[in-house]
Amino acid sequence: MSQIKDYPTMFSLAGKIAVVTGGSRGIGLHAATGLLHAGVSTLIITSRKADACAEAVAALQKLFPRADVSAIPADLSKPAEVTRFVAEVSKKVKSVHILIANAGASWGAPVDTHPDSAFAKVMDLNVRSVFNLIRETIPLLEAAGTKEDPARIITVGSVVGLQIGSIGEHGTYGYAASKAAVHHMTKHLAVALGPRKILVNAVAPGWFPTKMASGLLDLYGGAGGQGKASPDGRIGLPEDIVGVMVFLCSRAASHVNGTIIPVDGGMHLVPASKM
Ligand SMILES: NC(=O)c1ccc[n+]([C@@H]2O[C@H](COP(=O)([O-])OP(=O)(O)OC[C@H]3O[C@@H](n4cnc5c(N)ncnc54)[C@H](OP(=O)(O)O)[C@@H]3O)[C@@H](O)[C@H]2O)c1
Repeated sequence: MSQIKDYPTMFSLAGKIAVVTGGSRGIGLHAATGLLHAGVSTLIITSRKADACAEAVAALQKLFPRADVSAIPADLSKPAEVTRFVAEVSKKVKSVHILIANAGASWGAPVDTHPDSAFAKVMDLNVRSVFNLIRETIPLLEAAGTKEDPARIITVGSVVGLQIGSIGEHGTYGYAASKAAVHHMTKHLAVALGPRKILVNAVAPGWFPTKMASGLLDLYGGAGGQGKASPDGRIGLPEDIVGVMVFLCSRAASHVNGTIIPVDGGMHLVPASKM
């Protein structure tokens, strides 16, 4: 007979403290909502726009009146803002169990005219700022992690970091490179931080109809067209993000480290000739 320790709490995040970047909308807001459903008691979100943050906080606080939900608006593409953000977080909480490094940006342009400034912008926000944020949050994560239940960092990569994404008129050259970099950085950090009781994993979403993705999604046949191209016949739903995020942050995943989990119905495995 297997001895499963306390199965009912295996996926529970009761009492945990979480930080979600880009938590004001899209995938970050799905993740934040899921963490609260799973029992997170203190949630701090961030994005650049204070009004969007306030709106998300109000909606989440209404849904989860017993949780402490707040926002610290910051432009994480700037190292000084990352430092200020983490300092503000430290004033609110003494430890952080869960850090979801989700904020990101994309850019589409043909290869011949793909601007240096756009390449730099996506690399800065999607890679450099994620590293800066993680480095500065380590003391708070170390304060939360235990051997049995380590602290968690989830980076948000993309299936375009695993396969070839958009080329041609709306080529996402810098974006795809940035997401491949996020995946590789996640593995490095997993090995470096595992011994410090912090696990680092990446989620690699396929199509989710958010503000960032909707324009490109429409150009490539919309939810219907891209859904049909996927082995499971659809694009992503909020629940798909919630399921994988809650799992990775829970005790159920306390021995999962350095993985990249595609959340795309298997679309990244489809040969380009079939898409
Ligand atoms: N949607 C998809 O199909 C898809 C697929 C694969 C990967 N992803 C990844 O998922 C993550 C979330 O994307 P999404 O689709 O949810 O996009 P989204 O709806 O555009 O949300 C992006 C979030 O990041 C924030 N943000 C942007 N720039 C920021 C900055 N400089 N500092 C702080 N926050 C900033 C935005 O708020 P403000 O504008 O207020 O700053 C917003 O909250 C990204 O890393 C993206 O690459 C998305």
